[in-house]
This record gives sequence, C-alpha cells and structure tokens, in this order.
Amino acid sequence: MKKITIAIDGFSSTGKSTVAKQLAKALGYVYVDSGAMYRAVALYAMQNGIISKDHFDIEKLISDLDSLRINFKYNEDVGFAEMYLNGKNVENEIRTLEVSQWVSQVAEISEVRRMLVLQQQKMGKEKGVVMDGRDIGTVVFPDAELKFFMTASAETRAKRRYKELLDRNENVSYEDVLKNVESRDLIDSTREDSPLMKAKDAIEIENSNLSLKAQFKKLYDLAQETI
Ligand code: C5P
Repeated sequence: MKKITIAIDGFSSTGKSTVAKQLAKALGYVYVDSGAMYRAVALYAMQNGIISKDHFDIEKLISDLDSLRINFKYNEDVGFAEMYLNGKNVENEIRTLEVSQWVSQVAEISEVRRMLVLQQQKMGKEKGVVMDGRDIGTVVFPDAELKFFMTASAETRAKRRYKELLDRNENVSYEDVLKNVESRDLIDSTREDSPLMKAKDAIEIENSNLSLKAQFKKLYDLAQETI
C-alpha cells in the first residue's frame, strides 16, 4: 500500500495531537508532534536564563542552537514518542502553562524555525507520517497528500486545555489558560515567518461540537480514500 504524508495544522488546543495520534496508530504511521520541538527550545531558554519576565536574549539562544539536541524516543508503555532535550526526558516539563506562555515568542525566531523544520522534513522523508503543528501543510510538507486545518471556538479550546492541565495537577486558573490560548493564536497567526494559516488545499474541520469518535472517523475515512 502506498504511504502518504498527513499534515494537521490549526489553532492551539484544537485537539490536533489527539486525533493525529489516533490516526497514526490506525494507519501504522509515525506520529510527530512538532509543537513539542518548539516547546523544548522554549524550555531550554527558560532553564538557562535566556528568557524571563523582562528579558529575552535572542542572540544567545540563536548561538546555542547548534549545541541543542532535540529528539523523540518511542515509549512503549505510553504508546507514543516522548520529547528529549539534551538527553533528558522533558515530556512533562514542556507541557506546563509557563512553557506555553513563552513558546510562541521562541517560535517567531527564524533561526529556530529553520533548524526545526529541517529536522521535521528529515523525519517525514520516507512518508508514512502524521505531523501536527502550525506550518506543516504550508511550509514543512507543502506537497503532503492530505492536509487538515482544525478549528474550534476559543472557549471550547481553553476548556479542553484547562482540564488537561488540571489532570496534570497544575495549579492554573481558567482565565489564564484562555488568555494564553488567545495570545498564542495571535502571535502564531501574525508572525512574519511561517504564520499559522490554512493551506489552500487543506480540509477544514470545525470540531467544537464533534465527538472524538466522529472526528477520528472523518479523518480516517479521508485518509483511506487518499491512500
Ligand atoms: O502544538 P503546541 O500547542 O504544543 O505548540 C506550541 C507552540 O509552538 C505554538 O503555539 C506555536 O507557537 C509553536 N509551533 C509553531 N509551529 C509548529 C508547531 C508549533 O510555531 N509547527
């Protein structure tokens, strides 16, 4: 059977990674969470005094990029690949609200994007990949055979994210989560380099009122038709 590339882009917390994981599993494809890579760079900047409330040393971050090791390792117990930064598993640390509050500023830097996009393209070279992010169908794999663009209302997305963070025992308020979702969307869709936008040939999925099961079926059926 022919292997294809599936690109899933969209706003923050639209459930891209949930459906991307399900799809990859059902098709026997590799799943790549490109947002985790940007989060790992942001975490590095936070842990090394490069970024803080009133200070962002962009030059230092750019000069450190060559020495950063950002990679995924498959964890059989959880059934997906986890993020490693310089050899350390940072899968949980990259998901905090604090990282979410810096990541979009880190993702605006062209040098960061260039490095991660090259790595993402290498990971998808053999096809048979489902990758989710903001620029997968527009920049990373403009020739992907199947592209989705996910949307949902900001409140629906903030509620999902809030629940996720509470499940991880993070002490956050719904208002802060909503603010973060809205501010990331604004930065991501207005930045100069690779802004978040729907690729011309992407299929839009509005999932505010779609069950996970119905959403998965929709994407899976479209994938089967394309393969
Ligand atoms: O997907 P996730 O919400 O984890 O992504 C975190 C952030 O990483 C996004 O808000 C965006 O700023 C950045 N990102 C990006 N391009 C991608 C994936 C994520 O700019 N392909």
